[in-house]
Amino acid sequence: MAKCLVFVIGFLGLCWQVGCGQHKYDNYTLLRIIPNHDQHLQKLAELPLDEEISHGEVEVLKRSYGLNDSTDVLVSPNSKKLFEQFAVKNGMPVVTKHYYGRSFEALERVSRRRLREAFRVYGYNSFDAIKSYLDDLKFRKAELVRLQPLGYSYQRRAMSLVKISKDPSAGNPIIFIDAGIHAREWVAPAMAMYIIHRLVTDSGARELDGLDWYILPVVNPDGYEYTRSSRSQRLWRKTRSKTARDCYGVDGNRNYGFKWGVSGVSNNPCDKETYAGPKPFSEPETQMVRNVMMTYRDRIKLYVSLHAYGQYLVYPWGYTGGSLPTSWRKLDSLARKVSNAVQNAGGQPFKVLSAGQWYPAAGGSDDFAFGAAGIPYSYTMELTDGYEFVYPENNLATILPQLYEGFRTFAEEIKQEFGYASRSSLGSITKQAALNHKVNFVHCDLARN
Ligand SMILES: *[C@@H]1O[C@H](CO)[C@@H](O)[C@H](O)[C@H]1NC(C)=O
Ligand SMILES: *[C@@H]1O[C@H](CO)[C@@H](O)[C@H](O)[C@H]1NC(C)=O
Ligand SMILES: [Zn+2]
Repeated sequence: MAKCLVFVIGFLGLCWQVGCGQHKYDNYTLLRIIPNHDQHLQKLAELPLDEEISHGEVEVLKRSYGLNDSTDVLVSPNSKKLFEQFAVKNGMPVVTKHYYGRSFEALERVSRRRLREAFRVYGYNSFDAIKSYLDDLKFRKAELVRLQPLGYSYQRRAMSLVKISKDPSAGNPIIFIDAGIHAREWVAPAMAMYIIHRLVTDSGARELDGLDWYILPVVNPDGYEYTRSSRSQRLWRKTRSKTARDCYGVDGNRNYGFKWGVSGVSNNPCDKETYAGPKPFSEPETQMVRNVMMTYRDRIKLYVSLHAYGQYLVYPWGYTGGSLPTSWRKLDSLARKVSNAVQNAGGQPFKVLSAGQWYPAAGGSDDFAFGAAGIPYSYTMELTDGYEFVYPENNLATILPQLYEGFRTFAEEIKQEFGYASRSSLGSITKQAALNHKVNFVHCDLARN
């Protein structure tokens, strides 16, 4: 009897925390449509079918980059039949996950209960927990970590750039990483925080020799907290600015001011996925990232924007699949080295291609970094495969260290190409020799331009 009572009270407590009511996605179905013919790819590019957009009952979660790579579509009970028929009619295999929204709960209950808990390295933390952890780190690791205030999100959350450097005055090349412009991609901020964790705890981390790391772990904190607020909001993607009567949010990764709006965007403020905003950089969050890029553009040699999902590592151009930058081979080759490093560590390799070859979409941060700020290596990294946006928290301890090996490769390669330290690292080098070396280095640079 007493046991029963405890159970009932415990259950009510849980309801209060996670909500036991009906949730929007409970009866939705996830369809993984698999193209195995070139014609299938053309057909899938037409999704979502027009008549359904207006009902807001269909969301394309991921597009195919080629044969055998699924296009994932989340459909309401009403539109399920239409999409199943679409696949069958065109002869495409479909993997179906019924009652998709109900699968969120088990994953989320854990993180929701820990709202007020301290920061965990292998966890999905609240924005406040992340902030407190970083504020604390600034004091605990004062010799390495500085926080630069950048401004406020739309809902007035204070945002800071995390700068990690052994020697801030050395003018080292910078690796700039951001994460979480898309609210629902929880694994991205987790990865960014893990990178910070490793950089400050690995004693003698070579990644910090002659390199500075600038990291903005949650670009869209308003959206992030919104996805944490309820199961019905778990798949929110955009910012939370008010854009029209009863419509909110801009797709931050369509909002950057390079070839803004030319492809792969929606002009409808009520579009849940890809509304590009009323103008370029309409959002305070993308303005902050732009300001970091423009302020440090001479020193930033690598920019990586962390996203989920699908395990892709893509480079410019994103706005078109019809042309590649002249340096695309270098972008491609570095991405493949990173992918190999992750695979060698037991992780999944990345699918490497240009973002526009995957699917064209303009106004992305990677194109702006590369095309407007002149950052020579720029990537969008889509983390994880197989769980869509609800990657299980329990797996983080396995995959984050594997993925980190990719960032060590990034660091080595950037140092190799741009670092002064690596160029003078052959044994004990005299001051004069180092000076000569520096002069040569300058000449090299001039020659290259
Ligand atoms: C899901 O379907 C069940 C059974 O048909 C129904 O009772 C419930 O109201 C539906 N939930 C939502 C959120 O639509
Ligand atoms: C796609 O999968 C089929 C069946 O598994 C296989 O025969 C084919 O070679 C694959 N094609 C590509 C491009 O991976
Ligand atoms: Zn994304």
